[in-house]
Parts: sequence; structure tokens; C-alpha cells
Amino acid sequence: AFEVQLARDGRCFQVPAERSVADVLLEAGIDLPLSCEQGICGTCLTRVLDGEPEHRDMFLTADEQARNDQFTPCCSRSRSPRLVLDL
Ligand code: FES
Repeated sequence: AFEVQLARDGRCFQVPAERSVADVLLEAGIDLPLSCEQGICGTCLTRVLDGEPEHRDMFLTADEQARNDQFTPCCSRSRSPRLVLDL
């Protein structure tokens, strides 16, 4: 498990192994656009302000993934204990 933090209001949410970041954010009432939920379309793309995403999408190029400044919360996870999102 890891934690996501919203930059705007500082709220933190635990993301357990069996749930997606998108799932956890939607449940918290965050208005996250979703479409394919498989890392293909890029609809859910979210800016990452801190932490290191574990990219599992096929949307970003390898270079874009390596920058670690955005990720796809429908399928990607985190290598660091916490991700701070621009939400
Ligand atoms: Fe399509 Fe996340 S919803 S990449």
C-alpha cells in the first residue's frame, strides 16, 4: 500500500494493493475523468508533484514516464510511500 496526497487541501488517502488510485480518489469525491481504465487513453492523466510513480500505462512515452511528473491513476501505482498529486 501507499498513500496519495492532494496538493490542494492536503488530504491523504491510503491505496491498498487491490484498489486503483482512481478508485480511491473517486470514492473520496474527487472529480477524476476516466475512460478506458487500462492505461491506454490518457483521459485520467494527473500531474505528480512529489514521489515516484510506478507507471503501468501504455499512453506515456518512456521519456515522459521517466520524468515522473504525471501518471495515469486508473492503473499506475507508486514506488515511493507517498505520491503528491496536483488535485
Ligand atoms: Fe484511460 Fe486512465 S482512463 S489511461
